[in-house]
Amino acid sequence: MATPFDTPPQSLDEVNITSPDGYALSGYPHSHWAYLRQHAPAFRYQASDEELEPFWAITKWEDIQRISRDPQTFSNKTDIVLRLGQLAEGGAAPQTHHLLDMDPPEHAQYRALVNRRFTTRGLSMLEERIDEVAGEVVDRAARQIVDRVARRGECEVVAEISNLLPLVTICELLGVPRERQGDMIQWVNEMVGSGDPEYQRGRTQQETLAAASQALLGFFMQLSQQKREQPTDDLLTTLVQSEINGAPLSPLDLLSYCYLLIIAGNETTRNTISGGLMALIEHPEQMALLRSDRSLMDTAVEEILRWVSPVIHFARVVTEDVEVGGQLIPAGEKVVMFYPSANRDEDIFDDPFRFDITRTPNEHLAFGGFGEHYCLGANLARLQLRTMFGHILDRLDEIELNGDIERLRSGFVGGVKRLPIRYLADG
Ligand code: HEM
Repeated sequence: MATPFDTPPQSLDEVNITSPDGYALSGYPHSHWAYLRQHAPAFRYQASDEELEPFWAITKWEDIQRISRDPQTFSNKTDIVLRLGQLAEGGAAPQTHHLLDMDPPEHAQYRALVNRRFTTRGLSMLEERIDEVAGEVVDRAARQIVDRVARRGECEVVAEISNLLPLVTICELLGVPRERQGDMIQWVNEMVGSGDPEYQRGRTQQETLAAASQALLGFFMQLSQQKREQPTDDLLTTLVQSEINGAPLSPLDLLSYCYLLIIAGNETTRNTISGGLMALIEHPEQMALLRSDRSLMDTAVEEILRWVSPVIHFARVVTEDVEVGGQLIPAGEKVVMFYPSANRDEDIFDDPFRFDITRTPNEHLAFGGFGEHYCLGANLARLQLRTMFGHILDRLDEIELNGDIERLRSGFVGGVKRLPIRYLADG
């Protein structure tokens, strides 16, 4: 089925960057973002179905960085995600109080509670475990041989490779027991994919979201109680023992923290693994280069992050009249930063539509615009990606597509639902 994303716009009236079907069937609307970067870098956008309040689409790297670094003028204390398709159902997002809903100075107090665990030093204890899990996951996928003589194997990357490492890592960090990790992935899928019929299973988007959030929150409520009674060395124990201004975290604070970590820690890295592998398959000379020179892994991971940019947008609300991209934006209006667009900005990246694993410098905004809310898990994600791609290249040779990629129906996360591949097993 053709979607509005397939036709490059000829005028601002034709720009469409919010169609959920577009994201599902055509992937990112890069030609539309490029048109906006060129003609209207701050564009007051009214979705054609009028489901969404008008918002300012911000598409240039410089503007996104500036907005991210000025929390006084651009506040997080509102709905920071566009709920495409949801408003028509009259529903509200679950009530939360977590880092992404906070402004300074409160934000820094809450972030300080867990920061230490996400520094390079804090993560060094996890390195071995991440390597072990990634190795096991890829080994299992590499044993699915369909032709013994030719040593050909087949697997579905999302379920069999990408999902597992981020899930196990964040669950172990938080202290979620192994036997409940399958539930986590189901609830996260249903929350982030609540606009996708596959996860709705006959329910509305709002019902899907509400049921999954309730299940997740109920689970963490019980687990927090357990950690209070029997403290262990994990993030949830740190959180239940933490205080803000002399008082323990409220149940809402605690649950919101878990909710944020479990969603942010899973949804992003797994889609970068799938999207990164897809990019390498589509650029076989780059895959061959990385295979032959593993010292390129660090720059390759940065290029994969730039290329895939799995978080599509975050929003801020303007607290006082301000000029952005040559437009005066009145107080109270919403600006929406499109990170994948910033990562193809012709003024910042040389030949931005070329996938180049040696690209340096590579100041992409996949983790945000270097402000207060810059991704807490950036070091962790980089470690997971380096390790995972290392194992994939070690064990799977001659990787190619074995069917169509299937994408999530979401304008928030560039999700990959299925990525079937075939490969030559390494012997
Ligand atoms: C490839 C993987 C990832 C990408 C692309 C990504 C992207 C982002 C982006 C764009 C933001 C918002 C930045 C801003 O508003 O300025 C963010 C925030 C955040 N991310 Fe990530 N993320 C990734 C992995 C992770 C992981 C593994 C965790 C694990 C815990 C994590 C936890 C968070 C948290 C807690 C925040 C909120 C930080 C704050 O508000 O202070 N992310 N991430």
